[in-house]
Amino acid sequence: MSLEIVILAAGQGKRMLSDKPKVMHELAGKPMLTHVLNTARQLNPSRVHVVVGDRASLVKAHYDGDPDLSWVEQAERLGTGHATTQALPVISDDSMVLVMFGDVPLMTKETLGRCVEMALGKGGVALVTADLVEPSGYGRIIRGKDERIIAIVEERDANETQRSITEVNTGVMAAPACLFKRFLAGLSDDNSQSEYYLTDVVVAAVHEDVPVSAVKAELPEEAVGVNDRMQLARLERHYQRRRCEELMLEGVSLMDPSRVDLRGALRAGTDCVIDINVVFEGDVVLGDRVRIGPNCFVRDCTLGDGVIVEANTVIDGAHVGREAMIGPFARLRPGTELGDDVKIGNFVETKKARVGAGTKASHLAYLGDATLGEDCNVGAGTITCNYDGVEKHETHIGSGVFIGTNATLVAPLLVEDDAYIGAGSTITAKVEKEDLAVGRGKQRNIKGWTPPSKRKR
Ligand code: UD1
Ligand code: MG
Repeated sequence: MSLEIVILAAGQGKRMLSDKPKVMHELAGKPMLTHVLNTARQLNPSRVHVVVGDRASLVKAHYDGDPDLSWVEQAERLGTGHATTQALPVISDDSMVLVMFGDVPLMTKETLGRCVEMALGKGGVALVTADLVEPSGYGRIIRGKDERIIAIVEERDANETQRSITEVNTGVMAAPACLFKRFLAGLSDDNSQSEYYLTDVVVAAVHEDVPVSAVKAELPEEAVGVNDRMQLARLERHYQRRRCEELMLEGVSLMDPSRVDLRGALRAGTDCVIDINVVFEGDVVLGDRVRIGPNCFVRDCTLGDGVIVEANTVIDGAHVGREAMIGPFARLRPGTELGDDVKIGNFVETKKARVGAGTKASHLAYLGDATLGEDCNVGAGTITCNYDGVEKHETHIGSGVFIGTNATLVAPLLVEDDAYIGAGSTITAKVEKEDLAVGRGKQRNIKGWTPPSKRKR
């Protein structure tokens, strides 16, 4: 039986009070819908249908590069049952359909897989439910005397007794397509919201003696549906705590796991230590014994063994060699490649800079579109002037070069191995091997100078 997944993402998300469609609000740096899509794909479905409606073009534009998605438009938001119905015409009767909600981002593939297995095994409707300490806002699972599920009642439509039930509907439902088609065609909108509820499929199935079974989500956060920004923030914390626990179990030390945020994939070698308020984004790979100080932002980069990143440093799109020391207050921008033992100190910015092993730029410098060889010393205040207002130009510096303080290197420029540049120089022409270049006004001392305040009128 082929598996077709239908993701409901057309809702307005009124409770978010946002100009952005609800499913595009981000959890751990990615839209909620992206989390749902990533999990859906792990089940190897034959197709993934996404039902969109509210600001559909914004949602579709975000996934422009995903040609495997089948987009379904729900012209009017008439409820979750109505939304599911929109996807059914393109699904053949003999497929298995799994419905997921775009605002339930952390459901795991294991739980979803168990739900599909149950629907397959029993040939009926299967749901994912969860026992929540705080069930308010969710549809409640109504079980009969023999514990069999007989209905799902939305909170708004529930009486006091039903509201005291703590088993809730997560929204995930699996059934053969032919059953969905039959039950959804018979739905009514006779409820407090005048909507066609997907949840009413349960009553329809019970009415026809079709088995309705449930699997329980193992982790409470799997069940969380995000309807407002507070729920989103709480879910973010859950997610971050879980990711940090995983990291620590993999052997990474976190000074305070409640103050590290992982918004992408982080791989780390042994004995890495991460201080507080560090945010990781994209793909980050840390070697062994990497130490990252407090308040750092680290995105899409590789840091070699023994790298030390001091406080308040930004590393973005960089590759850093072994034992390098970065920061405090350094900024490595995309295209930065640092060799082993490099030192990039406070208030140094690099962009598209390839820096050879052992080279040091310890303070206050800008190295952009530049190549530096090994064992150079870049003095404080050194700037590569890479932009002429129209185009970017490159600076090439050999190995063993000493660049004095406050040098202005006007690109395009070549400085050969073991050259010296005098402090305060503006260098516009090639400096040959072992030469000293001095490009500054000659000092003039004026004897007996009387400052203006002491002058007689
Ligand atoms: C829904 C369930 C509730 C469950 C909860 C879990 C129903 C009737 N209620 O309530 O039992 O406990 O989710 O989080 O199913 N959507 C559409 N088109 C529509 C309406 C909604 O695509 O016309 C989409 C939304 O974008 C959202 C999902 O369906 O991704 C759920 O809709 P939402 O309005 O959030 O339902 P809840 O009130 O959370
Ligand atoms: Mg919801």
